[in-house]
Amino acid sequence: MTKLAPSLLAANPLNLEEGIRSINEFADILHLDVMDGHFVPNLALGILTCECACKASLVPAYAHLMVSNPGEYIEKFGNIGAKAFVWHVELDLDHMKIINLVKSSGMKPGMAIKPDTDCNTLKPFVDQIAIVTVMGVYPGFSGQKFIPSTIDRVAIIRELSSRIEIEVDGGVGLENAPALVENGADILVSGSSFFNSKDKKAFSDKIRSFRRKP
Ligand code: DX5
Ligand code: ZN
Repeated sequence: MTKLAPSLLAANPLNLEEGIRSINEFADILHLDVMDGHFVPNLALGILTCECACKASLVPAYAHLMVSNPGEYIEKFGNIGAKAFVWHVELDLDHMKIINLVKSSGMKPGMAIKPDTDCNTLKPFVDQIAIVTVMGVYPGFSGQKFIPSTIDRVAIIRELSSRIEIEVDGGVGLENAPALVENGADILVSGSSFFNSKDKKAFSDKIRSFRRKP
């Protein structure tokens, strides 16, 4: 079964509780987008909002850190009960150190990759991490158009590891979901297409019905 991970960034910011309620009812993972206005040209979701979201969530929360200094937030996200901590492979830092700190904070370590970054940059880390988040758009905003080459990139990353959980984030909807899953995606992050859909149950049933090739 493909897992659906709605991004809280696309929920009504004046009524996040309602957003979380629909994630609890129809989805598998709560996707928390944290932005620092430096790694990406936008600000989103501080630690207090993430803490309240984790408390209200009945599904595991995966934090996607679009920040230049993810190491400074590992302990905080571990303390608020996030189940996964994802940072970007493009950052020039000691990734092995971050991986170990995330593991010792009781979270699954994951690395995200932007659309223009060579997939091979993940190679030294795939055996040490649990998740790869393949960006379908340039990180920073929800509601952007999906970049079609993402589909091939998912297949390349699946070749690097048959074990890893592959999550695709950005511009995902019912039109590209089947190809993404067929090429190896396990989790589909969906912001605008989930929150804008009139029938969230039907949307979720459809996403969950897509299956990887045996
Ligand atoms: C983009 C974020 C995504 C985004 C998804 O920087 O990481 O999680 O909010 O939203 P949609 O599905 O609208 O692209
Ligand atoms: Zn995200």
